[in-house]
Amino acid sequence: MKKQFKRTLITTALPYANGPVHIGHLAGVYVPADIYARYLRMKGEETLMIGGSDEHGVPITIRARKEGLTPQEIVDRYHEMIRQSFADFGISFDIYSRTTSQMHYDTASDFFRTLYDKGAFTEQSCEQYYDEEAGLFLADRYIMGSCPHCSNENAYGDQCESCGSSLSPTELINPRSTISGSVPVMRETSHWYLPLDRYEAFLREWILDGHREWKPNVYGQCKSWLDTGLLPRAVSRDLDWGIPVPVEGASGKVLYVWFDAPIGYISNTKELRPHDWERWWKDDSTRLVHFIGKDNIVFHCIIFPVMLKAEGSYILPDNVPANEFLNLEGEKISTSRNWAVWLHEYLEDLPGKQDVLRYVLTANAPESKDNDFTWKDFQARNNNELVAILGNFVNRALVLTAKYFDGRVPQTTAPAYEYDLRTLSELASVKAELQRYLDTFHFREAQKEAMNLARIGNKYLADSEPWKIPADSPRLASVMNMALQITAALTVAFEPFLPFSMQKLRNMLNLEQLPWSRLNEHLILLPNHALGSPELLFEKIDDAVIEAQMQKLMNTKKANEASESKPYRAEPISPTISFEDFAKLDIRSGIILECEKVPKSDKLLRLLVDDGLDKRTIVSGIAERYDPTELVGQQICFIANLAPRKLRGIMSEGMILCAEDADGTLSIVSPDIKVLPGSKVK
Ligand code: 2FM
Ligand code: ZN
Repeated sequence: MKKQFKRTLITTALPYANGPVHIGHLAGVYVPADIYARYLRMKGEETLMIGGSDEHGVPITIRARKEGLTPQEIVDRYHEMIRQSFADFGISFDIYSRTTSQMHYDTASDFFRTLYDKGAFTEQSCEQYYDEEAGLFLADRYIMGSCPHCSNENAYGDQCESCGSSLSPTELINPRSTISGSVPVMRETSHWYLPLDRYEAFLREWILDGHREWKPNVYGQCKSWLDTGLLPRAVSRDLDWGIPVPVEGASGKVLYVWFDAPIGYISNTKELRPHDWERWWKDDSTRLVHFIGKDNIVFHCIIFPVMLKAEGSYILPDNVPANEFLNLEGEKISTSRNWAVWLHEYLEDLPGKQDVLRYVLTANAPESKDNDFTWKDFQARNNNELVAILGNFVNRALVLTAKYFDGRVPQTTAPAYEYDLRTLSELASVKAELQRYLDTFHFREAQKEAMNLARIGNKYLADSEPWKIPADSPRLASVMNMALQITAALTVAFEPFLPFSMQKLRNMLNLEQLPWSRLNEHLILLPNHALGSPELLFEKIDDAVIEAQMQKLMNTKKANEASESKPYRAEPISPTISFEDFAKLDIRSGIILECEKVPKSDKLLRLLVDDGLDKRTIVSGIAERYDPTELVGQQICFIANLAPRKLRGIMSEGMILCAEDADGTLSIVSPDIKVLPGSKVK
């Protein structure tokens, strides 16, 4: 029997605050969740939509280290940026908070503690790589080495990005710590584990028997996890960024980010509704729905439900409508390769066009398989659908009314024609269809149905040809009345999808926002109601705009190819020499006394060097890098006993030591404090 729910709690995956958000985020999670939330609110259902930033985890610490900032500084920057992007796109969160909030620290700690006290965890020791130089255990991402499958020398401890294999750090050949560069050693540590294996029977019954209605991609992934068999999962980590494990003897350990992040949904609800949050989480007349991307399925369908079940007082998700991935111009969206359309950049380049992107992302939503975003399709959907179907209909209805009826809703007095009746019945069926799709998370189909309503409107105008009807005929009044009622219905049908444009359209109609129930009415606007002034709802997007976006991507591609075609590899080490061979080299420090360009040479400089005993001339190929005047007074190291040789007619008595970078840039090797000229370099 179908359960009767009284309210819906919508959660949206908490994006990591280690970078801005892009179209993939919007298409996969936030636009569908927002459509759903707006729809439920319009139906008058008690609804909350919870969001926030996921501010723990290793990638944030890596980013911080790279930028020389603290993890807190990183998450402060991106949390704000992400929050702003979502607000700009009209994602109607009831709260958008963060996992570094005090409320979250307390909630996640208490949650862990409750499970700990109930004996819900097991404790196990294991051996893990430890960086002795840096003095810390290494998360998988902090270890690099050669991939055992494809020999890529820069594979990570969890994955080889070259061949795509998932790895465990112990499989890497020649592992090295990315923090200190040293070779890590195995050291014993211990962690708390959530024994997922003990919950298999519960999960099978709850998901496989109880939730056959879940989307096939979600149900299928759960089934495959369960059929493979579950293993205990560590819920703590040796890391200095995160929520400390709140038990004795756990110093240096924090909660695993995937343990604390979903609890963020609870913390954020508490922050929003401190007095009645339990109604949303502990009352089984609440319907919990998680909007996520496919990489999050196991966490939301298996791990988090096991945590909730183990705690004992929480409800479980009723549905988890996960989406697949959105690609960009045929390639996987990638933050590190900058292959993305960033939301903040989109708005800089296409200001005011939030709804166009919302529309296109829903039209192409990766609901059942991965899908592709292309700028050509973006342009086509804007020009051929938003402008040519929806915008065109609305514009004709409003402009004709302004022209013939002074912008007032005319009264229907003429008898109905056959196509009036047909249009009325079509109008009535749109609502049921739309609801059927929205209730089952088929947002692409739902939006198509809303567009169908505009098509019905266009067809109606084509059939009734108001421009051919004499201005004083009662028939014209009837036709325009019907066209305006369809326009008013459109403000309801499209509100969940295109909230900015529907606000604009309501202004043109001088109409308040209507509840969902009024969608199939054909008497929304009363006769004589004064309309606002008509404007264009959407504008055509020119080729030049699209070409500029394509060019931007081409530039990214070029930059990536340039850096990827020359992956940095230090030159192989030369054959081993004996210590005696090394001792033959007399390397000294010196000071440059004079310096000038060698005539007719781009590369060579003639240097006069104080070697502590005398002055000597050295010719060196560093003219492209250094200006002669900047070198006077500079300390250098040079080979003092190299046989003199003539370069461009000048006898060079030694060789300057330089480091040469991968791109050929030279850099003089110099003692880092002042030393006497002639000091030995060993
Ligand atoms: O995959 C991600 O981007 C995660 N930050 C999602 C977390 S969802 C929830 F558990 F908070
Ligand atoms: Zn590999």
